[in-house]
Amino acid sequence: MKIGVCYYPEHWPESRWVADAQHMKNLGISMVRIGEFAWSKLEPEPGNYQFDWLERAIDTLHKAGHEVILGTPTATPPAWLIRNNPDMLAMDEHGQVRDFGSRRHYCFSSASYRIECERIVTALAKRFGAHAGISAWQTDNEYGCHSTSISYSPMALQAFQQWCSNQYNGVEALNMAWGNVFWSMEYTSFEEIGLPVGTVTESNPAHRLAFWRFSTEQIKTFNKLQVDILREHSPGRDIVHNFMGNFVEFDHFDVADNLDVASWDNYPLGFLTRDGTDAVDQKNYFRTGHPDSSSFHHDLYRACGKGRMWLMEQQPGPVNWAPYNPAPVPGMVRLWGWEAFAHGAEVVSYFRYRQAPFAQEQMHAGLCLPDGREDDAAVEVKILAEEIHQLSHIDNTMQQASVAIVFDYVGDQAARIQQPDGQNYDPLVFTQRVYSALRQLGVAVDFVNTAANLDNYKLIVLANCTVSNITLCNKLETTKAQVVMFPRTGSKTAECSIPEQLAPGAYQRLLNLKVTRVETLPPMIQMTTENKAAIVDWRERIEADYAAQDAFEDGWGFHYRQGQYHYINACPQQPTLLKLFTERLQEAGIAHIDLGRGLRIAQRGQLTMAFNYGPDITELSDEVLAHFGFNPNQGFLLGQKTLHVSDIGAWSGT
Ligand code: GAL
Repeated sequence: MKIGVCYYPEHWPESRWVADAQHMKNLGISMVRIGEFAWSKLEPEPGNYQFDWLERAIDTLHKAGHEVILGTPTATPPAWLIRNNPDMLAMDEHGQVRDFGSRRHYCFSSASYRIECERIVTALAKRFGAHAGISAWQTDNEYGCHSTSISYSPMALQAFQQWCSNQYNGVEALNMAWGNVFWSMEYTSFEEIGLPVGTVTESNPAHRLAFWRFSTEQIKTFNKLQVDILREHSPGRDIVHNFMGNFVEFDHFDVADNLDVASWDNYPLGFLTRDGTDAVDQKNYFRTGHPDSSSFHHDLYRACGKGRMWLMEQQPGPVNWAPYNPAPVPGMVRLWGWEAFAHGAEVVSYFRYRQAPFAQEQMHAGLCLPDGREDDAAVEVKILAEEIHQLSHIDNTMQQASVAIVFDYVGDQAARIQQPDGQNYDPLVFTQRVYSALRQLGVAVDFVNTAANLDNYKLIVLANCTVSNITLCNKLETTKAQVVMFPRTGSKTAECSIPEQLAPGAYQRLLNLKVTRVETLPPMIQMTTENKAAIVDWRERIEADYAAQDAFEDGWGFHYRQGQYHYINACPQQPTLLKLFTERLQEAGIAHIDLGRGLRIAQRGQLTMAFNYGPDITELSDEVLAHFGFNPNQGFLLGQKTLHVSDIGAWSGT
């Protein structure tokens, strides 16, 4: 378990580097990420490589005892490169060029940009690949950030047409698959196909889903291009990319497949106002972040990284990009760090070492102030580092959880693309609600993709598996687990159409029922059932030759069950989700305990940790402590029974 920081040697006089490196060391930091935006300093003119300064920076950090994560600078091609090759730029949905002057100004489909990337990455990998100070590489920076997964440029158009012609056996097959007979959208050749943008009203959902798959493919191959070069010239080093939070614009399982580690960037307070958290909880968790937001992503990216996850950027104080940018409660920087470790992070790295006094991110806190003195976060990082050292003897091997949520990026997209004006229904927000309920019940959750091995799980949940998937269905057919499917499961084919047998598509083999009607509900409408289940956002009418477990006033059933398989045909409010899962956990024989809203507990090997996100002071009850293997004779490793907001309790339990 290591602590890291993001550092920009090119922003500071070289005379400071030694002192900075030493100060980081004093804080307990041992990994430093550098270089990911430094192209204009590495190659100030075409072909004029200036790598000596970078070598001195790496040497300085290495001598001070740090491992260096070197970023490839491809998120920021310099002005000369763009001006010489303006066709590298992406285009937005209005046909406007996304111009130079910030970052991520490139189109994934630009063949000439790929050649430039290949060139700079090869030069860097050859020069530094074998340097003893380099322990890892980061490819690019935050693919997709600032809405850059998708580009509507002429290169994208050409590449998409080519992609379509590779995917379909002739244009007639594409017409059939997409249902282009509708509104006379049929094509007579692949060259006639446009991008799904600028149409008078919505474009064909199949067209949009195809374009989303294509965009994933572009990011995947762009990333792989770099990974292959780095593997060749820098063997034995981890290759990572830093993904974002609340981000589903491409399939992260697919892109991460070529990496050694999936890392991600966590800004809990920035996310809170943008991630679907309701107004009440935005107030409750204004300075702490939502209790399940960070861990949701830790668990998800741990799955994307096949068990290996890092936190590449962790919020240190107020950020500069959310509608409101509060300061965290004292203690939260330490808490977020510990929580990441408890969910399997191998590294927690802070963004950034020192606040920049110039350019776009002046208002973004760092561990140090622009004048170099320590800011609040530095103090907490130091405590965190000491505590990690102190607890390093405790076994922290991650165990498989008993509960799995199948996370399907394509399913999320299919649901997002077509919903009959159900503005409140968001597949990601809904999946987060499901996760949150399970975490409140004190159970560990693994995310898995639709191809994963499901053996040994006792409860399997499908919350965003909109696309009917026969492989997944086959696995669910042989499991002994309780299986819970939520609305929209299997309601679309891979081409975003309604399956022939109606929803839930292939999964009708598990449960004999059909969805014959769906309705979406505005925020002021909440429906209740005979057994007081509370429903919001989305409801489905089911045809089945057996009775539902519960019913709405208007006679629609709620919660269909056949043996171990459950179909929940509406979106439950949180208390209803809690009740549903309590029953399933009981039936599955999974120990659970309701922790309430702000207390969360995570276990990694022998280490058990409690985190209080508030808004209230919490007392760890004897029941909770016993449930999580607390031994009164051994007592606490960190903290105590009473947890103020941002407090941590830790003990060694089984
Ligand atoms: C991340 C990005 C960093 C920095 C940070 C600010 O999205 O990777 O470079 O901009 O946000 O919060």
